Amino acid sequence: MAKQMNVLDFAARKSSPHKISMVTCYDFWSAQLLNRTEVDTLLVGDSLAMVMHGFDSTVHADVDLMALHVRAVSRGAPDKFIVGDMPFLSVRKGLAPAMDAVQALMQAGANAVKIEGETGQADLIAHIVESGVPVMGHLGLTPQAVHGFGGHRVQGREDAAAKALVDSARRLADAGCFAVVLECVPAVVARCITESTGIPTIGIGAGRHTDGQVLVLQDLLGMNPDFKPKFLRHYADGFTTVSEAVNRFHQDIQAGCFPSRQESYA
Ligand code: KIV
Repeated sequence: MAKQMNVLDFAARKSSPHKISMVTCYDFWSAQLLNRTEVDTLLVGDSLAMVMHGFDSTVHADVDLMALHVRAVSRGAPDKFIVGDMPFLSVRKGLAPAMDAVQALMQAGANAVKIEGETGQADLIAHIVESGVPVMGHLGLTPQAVHGFGGHRVQGREDAAAKALVDSARRLADAGCFAVVLECVPAVVARCITESTGIPTIGIGAGRHTDGQVLVLQDLLGMNPDFKPKFLRHYADGFTTVSEAVNRFHQDIQAGCFPSRQESYA
């Protein structure tokens, strides 16, 4: 198994043919599974509010919930670099609460934190980095701002908005971020950021010219056949695989052929 990545390995992947692969991971059993895969890094994303808890946005995740999931993932995936998402408003209430939230995620087992947005946050990000905590930025469609955006929509389509994203990425790099996620931005904008910023870019719905890609695990496994945004590729038909297995279990019970004699204690 490859050794756990660190921030120096991320830097080395900048403009390298060896791209960064990242998937979300929210719980112990999938962490154990992913620990045995080749994927580079795991993101305990605040998307867990939607995927694991059924909320309609990530606004509902808080620090305690994030720390609970980070703890489970770090127990299951000791060999992976784990990024924990700073949840909604956790970096907007002043320095001390923000640092308490960072401490909670790092002590839960994260190797880095991810922070959505840049505007008004660069100094705080620099402070977190200076405190020895790696920070991953996140620009474009930052889902915690979904209500401000008027829905989940591609960002940076107009020239001024694209330029603002390029400038924000540069300021995140200056603040010391070790990488930045670019979510739902035109491929040409992601390419421009990737070429003009010294830190690795990790795209989701940002085209192929980034230094890495991230997807939500359940999305790439095809667990919800009805969720198929343009940027998503289903690498499995998880919905069919799992429901067929559960149905076979149900049918075997009805037919009286589970458990068998070999599956019973004498
Ligand atoms: O929370 C999350 O899953 C994310 C990824 C989509 C990048 O932030």
